Amino acid sequence: MEIRFDEKNLLADLVGKANGVTRAEAERSQSRVLKALKSFRKKSEQGLYGFPHLPFQAAVIRSIEGYAAELSGSYDTVCVVGIGGSALGAWALDCGIRGPHPVQGAFTPQHPRLVILDNVDPSFTAQALASMDARSTLVVVIAKSGGTAETVGTFLIVREWLEQTLGRRKAVRRIAAVTTEGKGDLYALAQAEGYPRFAIPENVGGRFSVLSPVGLVPAALAGINIRKLARGAVAMTHFCWQPDIEQNLALKAALYHWLIWTRKNKTIHVAFPYSNHLWGTAFWFRQLWAESLGKTHDRNGKVVHTGQTPIAALGTTDQHSQVQLYIEGPNDKVLTFWAVNRFSAAGRIPSNRVGQPAFDALAGHSLTELIDAERRATAAALAAAERPNCTITLNRVDEEHLGAFLQMMEFETAFLGELLGIDAFDQPGVELGKNFTYGLIGRKGYEKYLREFQAYEKKRSAIR
Ligand code: PA5
Repeated sequence: MEIRFDEKNLLADLVGKANGVTRAEAERSQSRVLKALKSFRKKSEQGLYGFPHLPFQAAVIRSIEGYAAELSGSYDTVCVVGIGGSALGAWALDCGIRGPHPVQGAFTPQHPRLVILDNVDPSFTAQALASMDARSTLVVVIAKSGGTAETVGTFLIVREWLEQTLGRRKAVRRIAAVTTEGKGDLYALAQAEGYPRFAIPENVGGRFSVLSPVGLVPAALAGINIRKLARGAVAMTHFCWQPDIEQNLALKAALYHWLIWTRKNKTIHVAFPYSNHLWGTAFWFRQLWAESLGKTHDRNGKVVHTGQTPIAALGTTDQHSQVQLYIEGPNDKVLTFWAVNRFSAAGRIPSNRVGQPAFDALAGHSLTELIDAERRATAAALAAAERPNCTITLNRVDEEHLGAFLQMMEFETAFLGELLGIDAFDQPGVELGKNFTYGLIGRKGYEKYLREFQAYEKKRSAIR
């Protein structure tokens, strides 16, 4: 497993003092990041935060593998019902290892497809169900809280759809539940109906749960080697506890991203994978960064309104869509390229010449060379415009590298939470919207939120 972090284009030497950090600044901040590492390690060892321990849980991995092996060949579709942290990890893994859907090829029991029903768009849900056969579909319903409105609503539809074709008794055998053990409405329902259950540890929040059953159950059912994912994550975890910044990529990335954000005021972070396989990971990252680091209060209760807006861009595609803005628009962004050394194909371009300069210049080269040249050229052009950027390079996108990369980004986010003095593991800002929704759909106990919502509507209607 080989992952590298290149921070040089974040340095003042390349992007100027107003937009880049100096080595001296970075050195001066080393004690701060080491403190952040120490305090996060302590909390993790006390059991407050569980994601660092996930890849070491061999018994959990074995039980998921056993479940997938038992059902193997009996389905051609895995339908995940979940949202946010209960959906994005599965997508990152599926897209990372098996590629984006349009290029995955035909779906068979040997090569099942993964359908993720996260959004409650009724057209999307109906079309997804119409595209699946209940007799060859496995449903995995995932919710840590066990009561998320989107997941519950969609699951009731999917459950009825299964029962209408298979009958109640058989339908139950096509459903698995991933939720908190002993808590919540999904747990109670799964227990009452007898679905196989996989537990989400209490100390693992949604966006940090990709290497728990939340990501691993769908991945294993889709045929991904979850043991290798865990192996990569284990190796990365060992590095992430190292106090040596040159060995600890997550800590080094946290240091530079923190400095460039807080000292150079780069309030937007563009994750820029040059790999379609990492596109799902970019969306997973967007949630991790936004929900973890966007907070009103610091740990002392002081109002800080901190946060760095994450954006997902795809190279080279978004060079033809976004880079104009990144180079000439407000200098308020830091870009992190995600590069891949070795693709699963070279993309050889035929060497015969056609007599046209634009075509002949590329003859005999490869898409691997082209994508690499385009990324390096874009990084250089950004640096020339004093736009700070850095590059994380994965030797390849396979299970070990992806497991390691996801774990590295979770560690980096946790370290940043410590550096900013905030709780990176809660999300109080989304509660009010959820409560209004429950009030609006008439959930018992949420009458107060309905009244509050009605008062807001009244205020709106008074506006002329
Ligand atoms: O990261 C988080 O905690 C959230 O994004 C949750 O994953 C999301 O709200 C879904 O929650 P649940 O798994 O309880 O349905």
